[in-house]
Amino acid sequence: MESYIQQLFAERIGGKTFGKGTALYKFEKIKRAKRAAITAHPHVELIDLGVGEPDEMALPLSVRALSEEAQKPENRGYADNGGPEYRRAAAQWMERVFGVKGLDPETEVLHSIGSKAALSVLPATLINPGDVVIMTVPGYPVFGTHAKWYGGEVYDLKLTEENGFLPDLASIPRDVLKRTKVIVLNYPNNPTGASATTEFFAHAVEFAHKNKLVIVSDAAYGALVFDGKPLSILSVPGAKDVAVELHSMSKAFNMTGWRLGFVCGNPLLVSAYANVKDNTDSGQFLAIQKACAATLAHPEITAKIAAKYSRRMDVLVACLRKFGFHATKPKGSFFLYVRAPNVVMDGDGNRTAFKSAEDVSQWLITQKLISTVPWDDAGAYLRFSVTFVAKGEADERRVVGEIDKRFTGLTFEFGNDA
Ligand SMILES: Cc1ncc(COP(=O)(O)O)c(C=O)c1O
Repeated sequence: MESYIQQLFAERIGGKTFGKGTALYKFEKIKRAKRAAITAHPHVELIDLGVGEPDEMALPLSVRALSEEAQKPENRGYADNGGPEYRRAAAQWMERVFGVKGLDPETEVLHSIGSKAALSVLPATLINPGDVVIMTVPGYPVFGTHAKWYGGEVYDLKLTEENGFLPDLASIPRDVLKRTKVIVLNYPNNPTGASATTEFFAHAVEFAHKNKLVIVSDAAYGALVFDGKPLSILSVPGAKDVAVELHSMSKAFNMTGWRLGFVCGNPLLVSAYANVKDNTDSGQFLAIQKACAATLAHPEITAKIAAKYSRRMDVLVACLRKFGFHATKPKGSFFLYVRAPNVVMDGDGNRTAFKSAEDVSQWLITQKLISTVPWDDAGAYLRFSVTFVAKGEADERRVVGEIDKRFTGLTFEFGNDA
């Protein structure tokens, strides 16, 4: 007999039908295809370019600091919204890395248990039923998901190649704009790898002022830049009147599992975030906060990590271009976003046609044991992440050389409609 609990689920997670759908989500499909490919070819290495997190550990100085701080009794309890060391270190890091001066650690910076947690807490501070949030697609949907759970609506703005993967704010219809409270921006962007420009951020800030909107700038990849300087929206004059920015230890310092980031910028928004956060979690372990404060004093760690990704990008871009992919090295993040082919032909002239990027990705996993992430939201694209597992430069070249070998003899065709 079915548990009565099945009848109690909220509509936001599917109500009575929760867990009964047969539709497979993208990442689950990828996981299953990978498992099947490994079972079918146990002796072939699966090259995983689908991973969205660093392939290496945090640096020894961070691990050592954590080990020391974890032994101190004063760090044992609830951190709540406190922990002055990390707030102070974050404000200093914003100045040193992004040139954002004068953030008040007391009122304009507050930690988060990773930027995902901040994106899930912030909607409660602003969204009433019927309010609109502008999200960019393809993108990281967490803020929009929670906004919908509060009765809000999401308006998707497409990121296209012609616009350098920057949203066209002028294209938002008037009636939507009237009901809009928040725009979520994410640069360097997941999945397109695109970076914002100062001009775009200035335009977005002006747009927000004019239309009385809040900007949430998700800068989870903000410091991971290999062409130009890291850019914060808060470096634009007037941004602090309209924006908060989210930063994270995850990608910049190889610390995804540590779960720490911070929200900074407009003090009213930071205080509202503090209010909801205080009712949501009890703060990150102070030993982690203090170890991360010590880590933030070393921006050269991020520069080194970025240099590794840059090097890997160069070889991957060259390899993909050789086979006809329109691959352009991004200026930051670890994502290379390329148009998906619509046909592949093997050496015997056998053609396989694809209807979507998801089709291509499934084919690459099952036929070539190469895993990528497909995006079909705004054209058909594949995301290759340079966080693939490799130990040192020679091994990196070997991995990409392996892709080259597996593609040799294939001809990819790219339609004009992507
Ligand atoms: C765009 C974007 N924002 C936020 C996050 C969450 O990062 P974290 O919670 O580890 O800081 C991710 C992680 O993949 C991301 O891609």
